[in-house]
Amino acid sequence: MTIISPSLLAADFARLDRELAKIEKGGAAWLHLDVMDGVFVPNISFGLPVIQSLRKVSGLTFDVHLMITDPARYAADFAKAGADLLTFHLESGSDPEETIALIHAQGMRAGISIRPGTPVEALLPYLDQIELALVMSVEPGFGGQKFMPESLAKIRAIRAAAPGIHISVDGGVNRETAKLCREAGADVLVAGSAVFGAEDPGRAIACLKGEDDGA
Ligand code: DX5
Ligand code: ZN
Repeated sequence: MTIISPSLLAADFARLDRELAKIEKGGAAWLHLDVMDGVFVPNISFGLPVIQSLRKVSGLTFDVHLMITDPARYAADFAKAGADLLTFHLESGSDPEETIALIHAQGMRAGISIRPGTPVEALLPYLDQIELALVMSVEPGFGGQKFMPESLAKIRAIRAAAPGIHISVDGGVNRETAKLCREAGADVLVAGSAVFGAEDPGRAIACLKGEDDGA
């Protein structure tokens, strides 16, 4: 079963409660929340207060993707704000094992993400400690970019090494690339523009899951 995690980055920030209701009704189970600090990536998005406010109006699983330096410092704050899964970057500067332990101690599931330039081998040693591996299929920082097909081999390598964990793919996921990601072994598809930019988000979600051929 494929899980769709629509990325809030592509939503209308003036109408977040309505945007969330729309995707929840449309069959999304998770919500992907991209937190950017302007240092780890050249963009600034939103942070703790936004997540805390959304927690009050949504029952979706909050899949928080930290694109920040020193994520370990903020793990407890994101747990308090309502994150269910907390994913940090292997390149972020925090010690991976310590950060995983901190995330688990706060009652959250832990994820690690790798940028397109990071070899998948760097992630393999941590797979038995995490619940989710997030493969970036664009350079992190902005929505609406083109999917990098090199990420498919990474998904296959992670799936072979860790059959039981979630593998999420993030960036440029649309109906065509979603199919390739599912076939490679990804079970969580993050999609911003493909969901929030669609006229019918429910239909877009079904297409990404492979349940609607889009005809
Ligand atoms: C990029 C973010 C993504 C982004 C995906 O740094 O991590 O989650 O919002 O957007 P689309 O689906 O439009 O490529
Ligand atoms: Zn993301």
